Amino acid sequence: MVKKTIFSKLFFTYLILIIAVMAVIAVLLSYAFNNYVFGEKQQEMRAAAAETVLLLGKYEQAEITYSELNDSLDILGSMTGSRIYAIRLNPEVLANKNLVLDKELLDAYLFEDLKSILQGKEVSRKKQYSDRFAADVAFLGVPYGQGNMIEGAILFFAPLDEIYAYIQKINMIIWCSALVAVILSGIMIYLTALKITRPLKIMEEGAIQLAAGEQINDLAVHSGDELEKMAKAFNNMKNQINTAENMRRDFMASVSHDLRTPLTSINGFVQGMLDGLVKPQDYPKYLNIIKTETNRLMGLTGEILESAKIQSGEITLARKYFLVGNTLEEILESTGMRENPKNIELMMDCPDGLEIYADQHRFKQILINILDNALKYTGKNGKIKLTVTPEDGGIKLSVQDNGKGIAPQDLPFIFEKFYRADKSRQEVEGGTGLGLNITKMLVEQHGGRISASSTYGQGTEIVIFFPG
Ligand SMILES: Nc1ncnc2c1ncn2[C@@H]1O[C@H](COP(=O)(O)OP(=O)(O)OP(=O)(O)O)[C@@H](O)[C@H]1O
Ligand SMILES: [Mg+2]
Repeated sequence: MVKKTIFSKLFFTYLILIIAVMAVIAVLLSYAFNNYVFGEKQQEMRAAAAETVLLLGKYEQAEITYSELNDSLDILGSMTGSRIYAIRLNPEVLANKNLVLDKELLDAYLFEDLKSILQGKEVSRKKQYSDRFAADVAFLGVPYGQGNMIEGAILFFAPLDEIYAYIQKINMIIWCSALVAVILSGIMIYLTALKITRPLKIMEEGAIQLAAGEQINDLAVHSGDELEKMAKAFNNMKNQINTAENMRRDFMASVSHDLRTPLTSINGFVQGMLDGLVKPQDYPKYLNIIKTETNRLMGLTGEILESAKIQSGEITLARKYFLVGNTLEEILESTGMRENPKNIELMMDCPDGLEIYADQHRFKQILINILDNALKYTGKNGKIKLTVTPEDGGIKLSVQDNGKGIAPQDLPFIFEKFYRADKSRQEVEGGTGLGLNITKMLVEQHGGRISASSTYGQGTEIVIFFPG
C-alpha cells in the first residue's frame, strides 16, 4: 500500500497520466502505421496489376513471347514481393455460371473470390491464410479483359512475413520510444514532485519539533513561490512563539522574584521578633520595613489585577472635560515628584486653558506611570521635560528624559506585559514591567496612541496622543 503523501499523490497521478497518454499515442501510431503499410502494399499491387494487363495485351498482340511474358511477370512479382497469376479462361468456362475449376489448385476462399472477380469486381484482402504458400498473404484479384468482355483474372499473392517483420520492427521502435519517454517523464515527475514537496516536508518536521518544544532554526525554503511565503510566515510565527515563551519565563521569574523578596524579608523580621532576636525598642523600625514590603506586594498584586481588568474590558471610562495643565500640576504635587531624591529637574510646558475630554483618573494614572519611569531610569541631576501641545483637536504629550535610554533590541517590546529591559532585576528601581503595558491599554481605550523613541545612554522620549 502506497503511503498517502502529497509526494506519492503527485508522482503517481502524473505517472499514470503520462503512461496513459503514451500508451494511447503508441496504439494510435502503430494502428496508423499498420494501415499505411497495407495501404501501400495494395497500391503497389494495383499498379502492378495495371502493368500486367499491359503485358498480357502485348502478348496477345504477339509483341512478346510467352516466356518473355512469364519473365516480365516474374520480375514484376519480385519487385512487388508477390506472386502473380494471370488466369485466362475460355468462353465456355466463362459462360458456365457454375464455374468448374480445379479446386485442388485453389485456396478454399479463392473459389468464391474468383466468382466475384469474373463478375467484374476487384477483390482485396489484407490478410488471408493461403494453403498454397502455407502462410498469411495479402491478396488482390482484378478482372482482366477487353471492354466489357471479361476473359480472366489477375491474382496477386503477397506473403506477409516480410511485412509483418517490418511492422513488428516499427512497432518495437514505437513502444520502445514510448517506454523511454515514460521513464524520462517519470524521472522528471519524480524530481519535480520532490522539489515541490521538500519544503512541505521541512515545514512538517519544523512544526513537529516546534510542537515538541524544541528550539529550531529558521526554515530555509527558497522556492520563490507560495511555499517560501508560507515558510516565512512559519518562521515569523515560530519567532513570536519564542518571544512569547521567553516573556512567559521572564514573567514567571519576575513575579516569583517580586513576590518572594518582600515575603522573605517580612517573614524574616516577624520570625526575628517572635524569637526575641529583635529588641522591642527596635520594633517600630522593622514594622516600618514590613509595611513598606507589604505595600510593595499590594502594589504588585494591584497592578496584575488592574492589567487583567483592563484587558478583559472590565473598566469603563468616566470621561469629562478637564484642564490639562492643572491636572498635571496636581500630579506633580500629589506624588511629590518635583522633590525627588535624585535631584532631577522636572520642567513642564503646557498651554494655559488647554482642555481635553478624557477619564481624569486614568489620565493621571497614565502620566504617573510615564513620569515614574522617567524618574526611575534617569540618573542624578538629570532632566525631564514634559511638553503638551494641541494637535488634531486633541493633545500631544511628550515626556523626555536624559536618562539611561533603552537599547534598540528592547525598544519594540517595552509595551509588552512584564517586559523589562533589565532582566537581571538587580536594579534597585526595577519594577514589574506592567506599567507601560497598562498605560498603553488605557491610552488605546481613549482612542489614542503611544510611542517611544530612545537613544541608548542618552535618553528616552515617550509621546502620547489623546484625541479631543
Ligand atoms: N524613560 C525610560 N528610560 C529608560 N528605560 C525605560 C524608560 N521607560 C521604560 N523603560 C524600560 O521599559 C521597561 C518597561 O517599563 P514599565 O514601566 O512597563 O516597567 P517597569 O518600570 O520596569 O515596572 P513597573 O510595572 O513598576 O512600571 C522598563 O523596565 C525599562 O527597562
Ligand atoms: Mg514603569
